[in-house]
Amino acid sequence: MANSAQDDLFGYTEAYYATRSLLAAWRIGLLDAAQHDQVDIGDWAAAQDFDPDLLRALADYLVLRDLLERDGDAYRLSERARAMYPYFGYLPSHVGAYEPIFNALEDVLARRRTYGGDLDRSHQEVASGMSAMEEHLLGQLTRITDDIRFHGVVDLGCGSARLLSKLLAREPGLRGVGIDHEEVACAEARRTLEREGLSDRATILRGDATRLHELPAGTFDGIDLAIAMFVMHEVNYGRTRDEVVRCLRDIAEMLGPDGRLLMVEVSRVPADGPRRGLRFIPEYQLTHEFSHQRLIGRDDWESMLAEAGMKVLRTEPAGICEAFCFVASVA
Ligand SMILES: C[S@@+](CC[C@H](N)C(=O)[O-])C[C@H]1O[C@@H](n2cnc3c(N)ncnc32)[C@H](O)[C@@H]1O
Repeated sequence: MANSAQDDLFGYTEAYYATRSLLAAWRIGLLDAAQHDQVDIGDWAAAQDFDPDLLRALADYLVLRDLLERDGDAYRLSERARAMYPYFGYLPSHVGAYEPIFNALEDVLARRRTYGGDLDRSHQEVASGMSAMEEHLLGQLTRITDDIRFHGVVDLGCGSARLLSKLLAREPGLRGVGIDHEEVACAEARRTLEREGLSDRATILRGDATRLHELPAGTFDGIDLAIAMFVMHEVNYGRTRDEVVRCLRDIAEMLGPDGRLLMVEVSRVPADGPRRGLRFIPEYQLTHEFSHQRLIGRDDWESMLAEAGMKVLRTEPAGICEAFCFVASVA
């Protein structure tokens, strides 16, 4: 007899094991290899020094879940998984990066372990996951910025600096600065600039985007565009509303009267929001609550920007579930 409550629960266990298996397959490079070619699992295991039987068990599980296809000992992504490929970066950035916290959830709840104390998210997986989704995330944002004219751009909380390099690639005379307080993000950003041949036009600084005045003198000379992509909700944690407005005001002052701000954020789910069918945001919100980040609503950001002396010129969807992008001027 059908048992829909049991099936409902099995949906969660399936999602858990499928996600965890996909994440491992992404980390070890199997998803990448199986996208381009058929992977002979025995050979592949030998080349990577993995246990062939366990690797085959993982691959067979992914076959059962229609994520891989099997022909003898050769595996490749199923059609369904190939369609998902541009979004696989969510696995490290949305799940893997927060694993250290969620693997210790009971200890975290009991305050035996604390975020920022003996626990951290994986900054490497945040940066590499976002990089892997470059096409998906940046297509829309590049279009949104098409008509913004600028001479110099600062990327606040630059992560891997993908948007910064896209913007700089537009014209040879453009200059840029990327700021991030995590060394792994700075290293990834420098690699991006190097790869794109832009190292001579941009500097990556390890520093605090909320303390712009502490950065070396002249850092912001000629800067008239600031981008703050998925970073202000990090700044918003542990600060009062007035303190966040102060940070925004510092950005406005740094930019000057002709400056523009491009800010990308994800709105919090309202307390009376839908209980079913909402993809991504509830989990995004959950991981953020446990890692010193605080999502708020679009209207809250808009009113804080106004208080900081900025005016939202337009708001657009940012190409990732419920994320929005403000283009603001210094009013
Ligand atoms: C979710 S990542 C987004 C990275 C990048 N903007 C992107 O969209 O790919 C947020 C980044 O902001 C950085 N960050 C957070 N607070 C910061 C602060 N106060 N100063 C500098 N960097 C900060 C983090 O280290 C992280 O690299």
